[in-house]
Amino acid sequence: MYRPVEVAADVFYVGVNDRTKSRFESLWPLPQGVSYNSYIVRDEKTALIDTVDICYSGIFMRKIRSVLGDRPLDYLVVNHMEPDHSGSVEFLISRYPGIRIVGNKRTLDMLKGYYGISGSVIEVKDLEEISLGKHTLQFHMTPMIHWPETMMTYVKETKTLFSADAFGTFGTLDGGISDTQLCPDRYWDEMTRYYSNIVGKFGSPVQTALKKLAGMKIDAICSTHGPVWTQPENIARVIALYDRMSRYDADAGLVVAYGSMYGHTEELAEIIAGEAARNGVKNIVMHNVSKSHESDILRDTFKYRGLIIGSPTYNNKLFPAVDSLLSALQNRSLKNRFFGYFGSFTWADATARQLEAFASTMEFELVSDPVIMKQAILAGAEEKALTLGRVMAQKLLSGAEAAPNNASDGK
Ligand code: FEO
Repeated sequence: MYRPVEVAADVFYVGVNDRTKSRFESLWPLPQGVSYNSYIVRDEKTALIDTVDICYSGIFMRKIRSVLGDRPLDYLVVNHMEPDHSGSVEFLISRYPGIRIVGNKRTLDMLKGYYGISGSVIEVKDLEEISLGKHTLQFHMTPMIHWPETMMTYVKETKTLFSADAFGTFGTLDGGISDTQLCPDRYWDEMTRYYSNIVGKFGSPVQTALKKLAGMKIDAICSTHGPVWTQPENIARVIALYDRMSRYDADAGLVVAYGSMYGHTEELAEIIAGEAARNGVKNIVMHNVSKSHESDILRDTFKYRGLIIGSPTYNNKLFPAVDSLLSALQNRSLKNRFFGYFGSFTWADATARQLEAFASTMEFELVSDPVIMKQAILAGAEEKALTLGRVMAQKLLSGAEAAPNNASDGK
């Protein structure tokens, strides 16, 4: 039997850990797993905030029973309809047939579309409220973080914010649930990866939501993924990190991402990165796109302001994994980066044209001439590569000290 886990005043955690799936959304690796968080606000009336992935309905129900015993569940608030959170809605209704489901118009449309559910629903609009007794649930519409129906629920009296995916992170909750019970350090990098992979496209809606939240006092953030944040310094850090990433602001570091079939393009990458380091850039991350997962490369492009991409020409196009990376960066509308590119070809170059078009589309600042090499380094591309590394370093460090390691959290 589970014991009730109270994470904030009258708020109980009933979420679950997923250490089984290898990829979130069948795309993004989960080396540290992920949690699907759900919460009960217990008062004269009871409310469940979001559910969990359908694979965990059984555990989920036992946790709910541990908090409620034989009491009924009066409301289910659906802040987000993605199935990692709405997956257990039908199961829940089968156990609590009198429950009323709370969502906005888009939520309710999706509820009907996904599960055929249209009865016993309450449609809410921005700032509308439901009283549970001593606690008042207030609803805040925050569309496109990262789906159109996403909203947040705020308990006015205890200043607890149920933020859906916002402020979420990969990583299971091993034993502890809140930041008073566990060490937050393992989550900061995973929060950046989660944001860049899942939410990164929606910087502008995140900024809109942060502005809406700015006037609210928040004593606890209960996201749908990762720890419950209750300590003021952690709440400030989480909000600052989301604010910074959604503005596409980043540290003075450099990502060098390249494809290389036989090592020639990689040699250029080493020369460029080495010269950037000689000129003072300490945070340099190199990714061979054939080995690094795109998930990690995206994380680092959200951490660092410098980006240099290299590719050989392949079948008159870019190297396929480089092409895929560019598409992912474009999809996320990455902004405000110092950019450089390099590449190689054997008989006809297609790299320069396509990376130039990418830089132009993204409106990145091109810091130096591209380094395009025919066949091998013997052909004399070294000087240009050194220049690219040196100028990139100057750009990154002008007016700023080299950023300390892992400083992408806005501190
Ligand atoms: Fe965690 Fe957008 O679902």
